[in-house]
Amino acid sequence: MVLAQNEWSLSTWRSRPIAQSPTWPDTAHLERVEAQLATKPPLVFAGEARRLLDHLALVADGKAFLLQAGDCAESFQEGSADAIRDKLKVVLQMAVALTYASGVPVIKVGRIAGQFAKPRSEEFEEVDGVRLDIFRGHIVNDEKPDAASRRPDPERLLAAYHQSVATLNLLRAFTTGGFAALSRVHQWNQEFVANSLEGKRYEVIADDIERALRFMRACGIDLQDDNSLQAVEFYTSHEALILPYEQALTRRDSLTGLWYDCSAHMLWIGDRTRQLEGAHVEFARGVSNPLGLKVGPSVSRDELLRLVDALNPENIPGRLTLISRMGHDKVNDLLGPLVESMRDEGRRVLWTCDPMHGNTFKASGGQKTRRFDDILSEVASFFQVHQTLGTWPGGLHIELTGDNVTECLGGGSRLLEGDLATNYTSICDPRLNATQSLDMAFHVAEFLQAYSAARGARSL
Ligand code: PEP
Ligand code: CO
Repeated sequence: MVLAQNEWSLSTWRSRPIAQSPTWPDTAHLERVEAQLATKPPLVFAGEARRLLDHLALVADGKAFLLQAGDCAESFQEGSADAIRDKLKVVLQMAVALTYASGVPVIKVGRIAGQFAKPRSEEFEEVDGVRLDIFRGHIVNDEKPDAASRRPDPERLLAAYHQSVATLNLLRAFTTGGFAALSRVHQWNQEFVANSLEGKRYEVIADDIERALRFMRACGIDLQDDNSLQAVEFYTSHEALILPYEQALTRRDSLTGLWYDCSAHMLWIGDRTRQLEGAHVEFARGVSNPLGLKVGPSVSRDELLRLVDALNPENIPGRLTLISRMGHDKVNDLLGPLVESMRDEGRRVLWTCDPMHGNTFKASGGQKTRRFDDILSEVASFFQVHQTLGTWPGGLHIELTGDNVTECLGGGSRLLEGDLATNYTSICDPRLNATQSLDMAFHVAEFLQAYSAARGARSL
């Protein structure tokens, strides 16, 4: 079939240059796995992705805030029920802290149930004199430094699918089966968090919420009846990096006839795979899910405008989230002109801040780490830029875990470089632990309050 230049099909990405693609040693094996995956049930429904799009349209309008959070890379070794529950607890706690202080609804999206693939700076690394394929996330290979573990294995696409199914199943149970009911707000505070300053601050809010619920019950309001108090909407997302996996899970919606990538509600394009003519942009432009695009320091105004028009040609609010990840020392200079140009050109995008990926460095012990203060400073500058331009600082995109890990420095846990080795379990980038995450949420809540106060004062 000959396609017109701009026509899209499930496989048009295959004729484009592709960055960050593993070299699969056995392509026939990969094809067999793709065919198998294509027969599997979708992980999410098109209708759910559309509902998220509606929520994100509210964010684009300055009426809601997006919290996107989870692992840098999910691990095949760490899909336990407790780990998933604890991650969800932190996100729920953060959302409570943010909503309570700012009065702004928080849309919750996890980097979860499919966040297995990693873009890397190098294709190979040398360990003890042996050249090995670089670790690209468990959907491709294993991090163990030997040739067999590092060989890309297509069976891992199936394993990633099955782990995503199990994770999503549990998330659906937790978010709709009572665990996420607002009346359980105290139970989301894990013991090691509860003893920290941030945990105590959270308890004060949780007490207030409980009091308010008691009051409503005493007034005769039936809280059991209200779904928004009994359940939370929680959406999934990951970087759409391994396109054979994404294509195999893309289905045509029977209701609208549109294509949806049913591996997650929202997909994003990473900073290393956002070439305008490249395979990842080509694939993403044809699916109707909400999309994210990482915006790093090398993007020019012109390039961004062209990317935005390729990914959201109809300028639909909620379709495209621009995820700024500049670095705390660059964001002040680089972000303003981009936000300004989107505003002035009338592009209905929403902006969120990923303060993690521009602020990574190697500690003296060799671990990759990030300073809480750098992360916070990038978020503060992000808010400042939007306040100056009168645009909406739409959300926060962070890497976190519910465990008491020691991967980032400072913050609620007051971790020092010497503490990093205590409990460093990330298979890729360093994550905020539960206490540091809550600390971050309280800061962002204050930024949101200050922003709203300034906006209110301007409109008087
Ligand atoms: C990530 O989000 O884990 C990531 C690799 O980000 P970026 O593409 O912004 O570097
Ligand atoms: Co990362």
